Amino acid sequence: MKVITTNNDLQRILFQMRSAGKTIGLVPTMGALHNGHLSLLAIAKTTTDIVVSTIFVNPTQFNDPADLEKYPRPIESDIEKLTQAGCDMLFAPSVKEMYGSNETWRLDIGRLETILEGKFRPGHYQGVTQIVYKLFDMVKPDTAFFGQKDYQQFLVISKMVQLLHVPVKLIMCPIIRDSGGLAMSSRNVHLTENEKKQALVISQALMLVKQQFAFQTVDQLKTLATSIINKEPDVTLEYFEIADRETLEPAGRDSVKIVALVAAKVGHTRLIDNIILA
Ligand code: PAF
Repeated sequence: MKVITTNNDLQRILFQMRSAGKTIGLVPTMGALHNGHLSLLAIAKTTTDIVVSTIFVNPTQFNDPADLEKYPRPIESDIEKLTQAGCDMLFAPSVKEMYGSNETWRLDIGRLETILEGKFRPGHYQGVTQIVYKLFDMVKPDTAFFGQKDYQQFLVISKMVQLLHVPVKLIMCPIIRDSGGLAMSSRNVHLTENEKKQALVISQALMLVKQQFAFQTVDQLKTLATSIINKEPDVTLEYFEIADRETLEPAGRDSVKIVALVAAKVGHTRLIDNIILA
């Protein structure tokens, strides 16, 4: 696998690939790779000729400096995992390579910016769109792959692609869970063994809501999920919403495509998860 840290090298190598008629897939990450990331890579490998993965802990999407500071950065083992998984190229730039000084960015992504995740992480999606736009602009992928776990992020990036006419196809890849049901996340490394057990109430609530979806009203399902999560005293629920899959507005009588989304803190670690209901 080629490991590249500068945009110049990236452009030189991508030019050769494109000239050879290869299609390019992009798997953007912030590193601390787990099986969820590797599943994106596996899907990308079946879809495009060349797979470019990126590792960049993007400062502009962190609304909490302490979270940015403690974000795991195991670059050596990440390179090993990507090599084993058959990734063709890793682009791992520095902050200086990606951002000039006094850069500003503001994209009107509507209500998606301020509801659910947006409400709890003000400014987060501006940072996400800013960096993903830069990565799209540099790599110019035919297809880009993102995980369903960050469901709202996928909608936000789709909106950006539509607003800025970015010629890329987006693919949402399924959530990967550990044997207990916990959705894989780079932040899981911060959980103690005990917290990992406590965190299981999150996926258990989602699974039960899916099971009961045909039999209960949206309000009943939300009460059910909330009561399951609140039974675990060390898990602090931030939101549990049953929402329209395209707008993320609360699901109503007429909603056809529906998703349940949850965010909770387990100890000091914030986790998100979701499940498609219809
Ligand atoms: O999902 C992530 O890991 C990040 O938000 C992304 C898309 C790589 C942008 O920094």
